[in-house]
Amino acid sequence: MSSRDQFSTKIGFMLAAAGSAVGLGAIWKFPYMAGSNGGSVFILLFILCIFLISLPVLIAEFMIGRRGQADAVTSFKTQAPGKPWYLVGYLGMVISALILSFYSVVGGWILSYLARAAIFAVKPTDGSTYAELFTKVIENPIEVVMAQGAFILLTILIVQAGIKSGIEKASKIIMPLLFIFFLVLVVRSLTLEGAMEGVRFMFVPDWSLFTGETLLLALGQAFFTLSVGISIMITYASYLGKSENIGGTGINVALMNIFISILAGLVIFPAVFALGFEPDQGPGLVFVILPAVFEQVPFGGLFLLIFFILLLFATITSSISLLEMVVSVAVGDNRKKRVRTSWLVGILIFIIGIPSALSFGVLSDRTIFGRSIFDAVDFLTNNIGMPLGALFISLFAGYYYSTKVSKAELNTSPFMYYLWLVLIRIVSPIAIIIIFYTGLK
Ligand code: PFF
Repeated sequence: MSSRDQFSTKIGFMLAAAGSAVGLGAIWKFPYMAGSNGGSVFILLFILCIFLISLPVLIAEFMIGRRGQADAVTSFKTQAPGKPWYLVGYLGMVISALILSFYSVVGGWILSYLARAAIFAVKPTDGSTYAELFTKVIENPIEVVMAQGAFILLTILIVQAGIKSGIEKASKIIMPLLFIFFLVLVVRSLTLEGAMEGVRFMFVPDWSLFTGETLLLALGQAFFTLSVGISIMITYASYLGKSENIGGTGINVALMNIFISILAGLVIFPAVFALGFEPDQGPGLVFVILPAVFEQVPFGGLFLLIFFILLLFATITSSISLLEMVVSVAVGDNRKKRVRTSWLVGILIFIIGIPSALSFGVLSDRTIFGRSIFDAVDFLTNNIGMPLGALFISLFAGYYYSTKVSKAELNTSPFMYYLWLVLIRIVSPIAIIIIFYTGLK
């Protein structure tokens, strides 16, 4: 997509937005966050946060981007000349870069596993376990940094060449395939002996596990999974024509994400309980459980390989949106600077991400506010940066726009419009402030 092209088809925009949204958030992060934070309680809060807070903000970002028809900073500048709203765009730029710095670390882990899956070496032959293999991979400083670099390289190559339309077309095949894979795996997982314990863990809430921090983490996940709060969707919607139904697109993206997250959970948790693993083992959860589930499937090794390829695609469609956001602010509509800037920004992000990559091995004893470097960057971006950005975006769309403007943009039934208005003006800002306050105490 060149700088000021428009999406030619409805499905093109939907795929780009869904591509950015569906990624590691749903497939890698959601299961381990749910697993470490009370299962069903977290899941319930997550779904509530999506509908009450994150989805209205997603629609607001679509609105701001389409009206702005430019990168996030310029969009705010032209719509609010002489006012400091454009700083929200810069906040998004910094947070996007930081997210990509650790997102690429996990992207690197996927490449590492993909390489092993390609030679059918995910199953350790020396009698060690899947958990030990994961530890071995993420502790190895050379492997993690090289894999992270390779992942960023892939992202840069796509963003600088502008071959995203190809990726969008590929997404049309990849996403449904991913769905089918998950469905098959869900069936396999659910039919393991003892699987129901996992289903209970996901759907029967134990409210004694409810805390302010769980709520803050669920909110962070709701933003992360929809790519909301850091102006990415403003950037994407700036390529949008007037005829698009932004409300409907937003709802579809949200539903798709919830669906994939729950499917991922339904693969992971029944297997966790049936095969005797622990649900709260953190970022390694899917890397340990998935190979164990595939082991129970005929031709599992081959399917595991295909699965990692699909997962890599889903991850790349998200990482290019992160880099695209930063590059688009840096170059504006200047196409000539695009290639050089993509490389420059990408390399910078790679360097910033190295401490995160090493934080599971050689830097594991370095902590920031009691968290590992990786977790600290994750927490700062997800639980502080994104909610803060979302708060400002709610205020901008809710109060800075006149109701005449937002009504015309949303172009939906009066009921849906006023529902959105109440959510964006009152529910979302107040909830973000309260959750912030209780979660950070
Ligand atoms: N939504 C992506 C995921 O769930 O994997 C991650 C992400 C992409 C977050 C883009 C934020 C973003 F701006």
